[in-house]
Amino acid sequence: MNRREIVTVGVALGAGLAHGARSERMKPQIGDVLVHAFGDRAGSVISPTDVGRERIFAFALAPDGVVRDGSLHGQLSLLRVDEALMSAKTRPYAAGPILAVSAACTHTGCEVSGWQRDNNELICPCHGSRFAVLDAARVVLGPATKPLALLHIELGDGVIRVAGKFSRRVGPAPTY
Ligand code: FES
Repeated sequence: MNRREIVTVGVALGAGLAHGARSERMKPQIGDVLVHAFGDRAGSVISPTDVGRERIFAFALAPDGVVRDGSLHGQLSLLRVDEALMSAKTRPYAAGPILAVSAACTHTGCEVSGWQRDNNELICPCHGSRFAVLDAARVVLGPATKPLALLHIELGDGVIRVAGKFSRRVGPAPTY
């Protein structure tokens, strides 16, 4: 390999790495498939039947094989809830009884890691905000003032797919 070829390969590799890094940090895109975020099954495709009584953390898997796990803004809580209890604002984002809710708190951006199944509330451990997932993840208790973002998902071929955009800005509003 001569010097010019080495430089060309280096530039191409650099561009590829940069593309991969960008893809990892991108929000879920239409057509992506949801995969387990953590644990023994991290990176494996989530089947709708995997979503049971417990919340599952998920990331989106791009068609080119990149898992979009480079930012909390791509992390989702997958929840199975009672479809009949969903509000009219919630239902368009759901795939049957399954909801995908952003894990980035709208207060100051902590991971919303608590899930209280009995009353269908997601809870942020940092300052105690609570969100009603059946009602478009509205704030039940602050200090957060904005709902969590819902991601539009659909079921197909034993997978959960991204079918549209988030319902609102993910995470807190920027401070300038
Ligand atoms: S960051 Fe979630 S309540 Fe403050």
